[in-house]
Amino acid sequence: MAETPTTPYATVRRALKHDSGEKHVSGTAVYVDDVPEPEGTLHMAPGWCRGAARGRIVALDLDAVRAAPGVVAVLTAEDIPGDNDCSPSIGGDPILADGEIMFWGQVVFAVVARSRAEARRAARLARIKVEEDAPTISVDAALVEDATVLPDYQFRNGQPEAALDTSNRRLSGVMRIGGQEHFYLEGQISMAVPGEDGDMFVHCSTQHPSEVQHIVAKALDVIEAGVTIEVRRMGGAFGGKESQANQWAALAALGARVTGKACKLRLDRDDDMIMTGKRHDFRIDYSVGFETDGAIKAVDMAFAARCGCSADLSLGVVDRTMFHADSSYYYPDALITSRRMRTHTVSNTAFRGFGGPQGMLAAERLIDAIAITLGLDPLDVRKRNFYAQGADITPYGMRVEEFATQHAIVTELEQTCDYRARREEIRAFNAANHILKKGLALTPVKFGIAFTLPHLNQAGALVHLYQDGSVHLNHGGTEMGQGLNIKVAQVVAEEFAIALDKVKITATHTGKVPNTGPTAASSGSDLNAMAARRAAETIKERLVGFASDKYGVPIDKIVFRDGHVLIGNEPILLGQLAKAAISSRVQLSATGYYATPKITWNRQTATGRPFLYFAFGAACSEVIIDTMTGEMRVTRVDVLHDVGKSLNPAIDIGQIEGGFVQGMGWLTTEELVWDDRGRLTTHAPSTYKIPTASDVPEDFRVSLYNSLGNPEPTIYRSKAVGEPPVMLANSVFCAIVDAVASLRPGVIPPLDAPATPEAILAAVDAVKAARVP
Ligand code: MTE
Ligand code: MOS
Repeated sequence: MAETPTTPYATVRRALKHDSGEKHVSGTAVYVDDVPEPEGTLHMAPGWCRGAARGRIVALDLDAVRAAPGVVAVLTAEDIPGDNDCSPSIGGDPILADGEIMFWGQVVFAVVARSRAEARRAARLARIKVEEDAPTISVDAALVEDATVLPDYQFRNGQPEAALDTSNRRLSGVMRIGGQEHFYLEGQISMAVPGEDGDMFVHCSTQHPSEVQHIVAKALDVIEAGVTIEVRRMGGAFGGKESQANQWAALAALGARVTGKACKLRLDRDDDMIMTGKRHDFRIDYSVGFETDGAIKAVDMAFAARCGCSADLSLGVVDRTMFHADSSYYYPDALITSRRMRTHTVSNTAFRGFGGPQGMLAAERLIDAIAITLGLDPLDVRKRNFYAQGADITPYGMRVEEFATQHAIVTELEQTCDYRARREEIRAFNAANHILKKGLALTPVKFGIAFTLPHLNQAGALVHLYQDGSVHLNHGGTEMGQGLNIKVAQVVAEEFAIALDKVKITATHTGKVPNTGPTAASSGSDLNAMAARRAAETIKERLVGFASDKYGVPIDKIVFRDGHVLIGNEPILLGQLAKAAISSRVQLSATGYYATPKITWNRQTATGRPFLYFAFGAACSEVIIDTMTGEMRVTRVDVLHDVGKSLNPAIDIGQIEGGFVQGMGWLTTEELVWDDRGRLTTHAPSTYKIPTASDVPEDFRVSLYNSLGNPEPTIYRSKAVGEPPVMLANSVFCAIVDAVASLRPGVIPPLDAPATPEAILAAVDAVKAARVP
């Protein structure tokens, strides 16, 4: 299985540092707020009604705002010449509220002022009178009211009702899984610069420049060709800038249109947390039928998501929850239903894993419940239910072709992390200690790669070769810290056989590569590196054809190597050949395009193949809890993760570590709390606890699975890595469940996510109080 020691590749499959790593730490990386401001740039702040989560605006008095020092303009819905909607999907997301308040934090107006401080101060002077209605805040309340943002959807496979009835054992329960704030370090920001003829150029921190372009054009009522969006990089996004950048870009562009000056809108952190969507929280009602050996016969899982006040991306997010409600387990008969609940809270959105983590965690709850009920080791129940030969069809009908990879990963990790011996040690520790209890869990990851909206699975690139042999690289993907740009640059450098520093990474720009999808679904490098390679190949073909004619050498005797082109045995510098080619009128600029093959998913009929392949992984986490206080520490984590043949192992390991810690934060410390009037009470780092450097597990062992390569012909046989590692953190949650369960054999801890100290303590108390089954 080992890679041949002398890899033929010069640039790909190498652990190279992030192209901007040094710039990130030295403060020289340019983010939107670092772009030099044009003379006279104005600054904006959103204005909103701090009183209400739901109601009708009956009076809007902005006189004091207009009269405040430094104010240049105050914008309301009436100032929008085109569409007052920034929805990425079916509408319902006004840029500025038009009469109706749908959540606490909805923007009603925007102030344009000489400085940001003046804009923010002025925004507080508004007098907004709202006729309030009682808001619907929780999923449960929305279920009672039958309030949804989109129709219900389901996967049905076999005869789940009958199979549940005939199963040897049956368990039912309810689980709740909390949401998550993105907490990107760079908040939402846009700077719009007006041009001639009403043109607009927007520097924007977005994962989806093309969509921002469309939203801005529609809001300003101009043609799309008159609007250009540029993204050099984001200071983190995590899904929070897939659709949530639209509103701020539209407002900045509107400010620029009205004032004729460049306008910048940078959200304050509290405003950002209050006004932008988050990970969906869920209520899951489940029934599972199983045999006494732990084999699952049938499941009925009902997912109800808090979508907030509009659809946003909830169609795809909750679909992905359903696609991952199997985790890695075969359900012979299954009913997986979903409801997308409408609440008077901010509209929830993409967040790393895009709904998948919630589905998978629910599946792990089923497994833990079965294991605890039967007195089996949860790992054995997991393995008992893995996809396998003859048991390889998911509830949505796709075959899991690569189940052997999953088995190999779990088997290897079980050995390298010493699972069985540590299980015994923990049993002994727990028997000897009354207050402190340890827990252990080894959980799998299987994550489907591709957008489940088939048309998003395409990408473009633009490559120029210059006369000195340097290459200008542009593609439709966006850099948010994940290392997309270095991976694509590696691929292009490999193609031309040139040093990486000869490839110029350039800002994503809707005028260079148009009509792109968002950089999301972990597919950034799968898509854009392939498109860039095709562009490079086109240029190479032209060069080879030219050299073959000029030197009379057959094309198969012309190869690119070490910055040179070998023409027969004659090496010539790439730059020299480029120069000669240009003199002979050969075009050295090309576009490349790629569309993911094999994707045939049809949502209407719930048939076809939604994913090109799966990314696999597994993690084993050990925790210790204090049953008197609910405190918890993660004492050791072992990860084995499958990235196929890694394009860049350094970047991939960074993604795995970062994803794990972000997932751990979601499941243990990050708690969003709304009060009964719909006010988010956790809108600053003082009340919302993300993991810090000191929360990284002290003993954290991350390895890449020694893969033979992606069986699908992806770019250099790599696999996507951006999101799957988040779900490795399910092992932390399950280890906490394991620790609590050690208190009373046979009692399933009623632990919901996040497992904060309060939640752990409540679960401990509940288990202690439970009757022995
Ligand atoms: N890594 C960093 N450092 N910052 C981010 O914002 N976003 C994640 C993941 N890793 C993110 C990240 C999310 S949600 C996705 S979908 C992928 O990166 C997107 O990039 P890719 O498709 O190039 O992997
Ligand atoms: Mo990632 S949630 O697909 O942006």
